[in-house]
Amino acid sequence: MEFHAILRLVHITGFAAWFGTIFASFFLLKTLEPGLTGDGSQAQEYRVLLMRFIKLETKVADVAVISVILSGLLLAHFYQGWSPWVFTKIVLLVLQIALTMGYIVKVIQRITYPCDALQYRSWYRLFTISFSMFAVVLAVTFFLR
Ligand code: HEM
Repeated sequence: MEFHAILRLVHITGFAAWFGTIFASFFLLKTLEPGLTGDGSQAQEYRVLLMRFIKLETKVADVAVISVILSGLLLAHFYQGWSPWVFTKIVLLVLQIALTMGYIVKVIQRITYPCDALQYRSWYRLFTISFSMFAVVLAVTFFLR
């Protein structure tokens, strides 16, 4: 099998796995919303479920992001060259990680459950940031090459 094909496979599969974990988290947060914004005992039960999910999700997402970055850098080094397009992708990826991690540390991790619906909306703001950055990186990938 050709090395170029393997790197592209890893890059795209890594991206798909990462994107998939974000969608799964979005659906889970939507599903758990009534419990996490409801009465005390159910909120505690749902909080435990959410924490268990996040633990599993971050394991997959971490491996996926690292695969995307490593395969992307190897593709650039061996095949694509260090073009402005590659640098744009790198800057966007760093920005995406900084924005989402920053928001998680500053806002999401400070939520205690049960919380009110207004505070819960912070989760949806996080998904908006994440999906918007995916849209920008994908637009650059497919339309600005
Ligand atoms: C460190 C960051 C990244 C670097 C250096 C990078 C580099 C590259 C390179 C060099 C290619 C061309 C592969 C080839 O045809 O030889 C590529 C393709 C691709 N990248 Fe990235 N990438 C990065 C991040 C991302 C991210 C975050 C996404 C998704 C949001 C992404 C999605 C894709 C997709 C879908 C393709 C396939 C495009 C096609 O087949 O025409 N990349 N990337």
